[in-house]
Amino acid sequence: MNIQAEKLIELVKERHHQSKSRKAKFICVSSGKGGVGKTNFSVNFSWLLANRFDKKVLLIDADIGLGNVHVILGVSPEKNLKLLMKGADIRDLIQTYENIDILLGFSGIDSFQELESIDTITVINKLEKIADIYDYVILDAPAGINENVLKFAVSSDVTYVITTPEPTAITDAYALIKTLYKLYNYDCIKIVANMCRNKNEGFSILERMRASCENFLSFRPKVAGVLPESFNLKVAVRKREPVAISNPQDQYVLALMEIAARETGEILKEENSGFFEKLKKFLGIKS
Ligand SMILES: Nc1ncnc2c1ncn2[C@@H]1O[C@H](COP(=O)(O)OP(=O)(O)O)[C@@H](O)[C@H]1O
Ligand SMILES: [Mg+2]
Repeated sequence: MNIQAEKLIELVKERHHQSKSRKAKFICVSSGKGGVGKTNFSVNFSWLLANRFDKKVLLIDADIGLGNVHVILGVSPEKNLKLLMKGADIRDLIQTYENIDILLGFSGIDSFQELESIDTITVINKLEKIADIYDYVILDAPAGINENVLKFAVSSDVTYVITTPEPTAITDAYALIKTLYKLYNYDCIKIVANMCRNKNEGFSILERMRASCENFLSFRPKVAGVLPESFNLKVAVRKREPVAISNPQDQYVLALMEIAARETGEILKEENSGFFEKLKKFLGIKS
């Protein structure tokens, strides 16, 4: 085993230990393949947790080099993590947007040397120190299966792995799960199918993925949910506004709301007692 892998395994053990004592739940949003909807998931999920579930949320654009949370939110990144490496307080780098604290720290770093000077582990350690004021810390991770994604994932209490119905996205999502599980024994994984034509399409993809994991890895990731293809989402991206704000009744937003409710534990209580009624009330829809 190489030194990097050994270091990561140590990190996983340390994180599992630390995460039990920290208050905030760290959620990593990852995928394997790019362009499958991680950033939209992260932004809208954060917005729903903060504004529909009254949670204190820190959203981090951890897509080093290609961060675009700010593009979807229509804000400009004021400060980046270069300052952190120079000793700045991480709290001073946080901006707020609609009750979400956001750290756009990796945006605006425009040379490879600058990127290399940022140590992900230092960032995570600094985050641990401020995490107590949050209920959730959401990390919008980079695509690919690189060291940064793995560090963010293994440092998180839950890693959502997003795929779409495309075979290439499914293969890459499976490869990421396999790496996390086989190399790092990390199993806090929930799978999401995005851009689906209907629920059946999504759930059959997720079931097939689970079967492959079971057959080849002897491990079954949890199913988080299915998100539909949404025209409103595309329009919202162009308007630089989260679809949860522009179209609160869109099917994508409602499906994401279910995932968020399951994450906070509220669906378990509400499932049999008019969850959708409560949802409609939340969203101001008359039944
Ligand atoms: N559920 C969806 N329905 C329709 N289009 C989507 C959906 N999710 C993502 N997209 C499209 O895919 C593009 C990339 O999404 P993004 O969230 O930036 O992906 P990633 O962060 O994984 O690269 C979006 O700009 C949007 O056009
Ligand atoms: Mg992205």
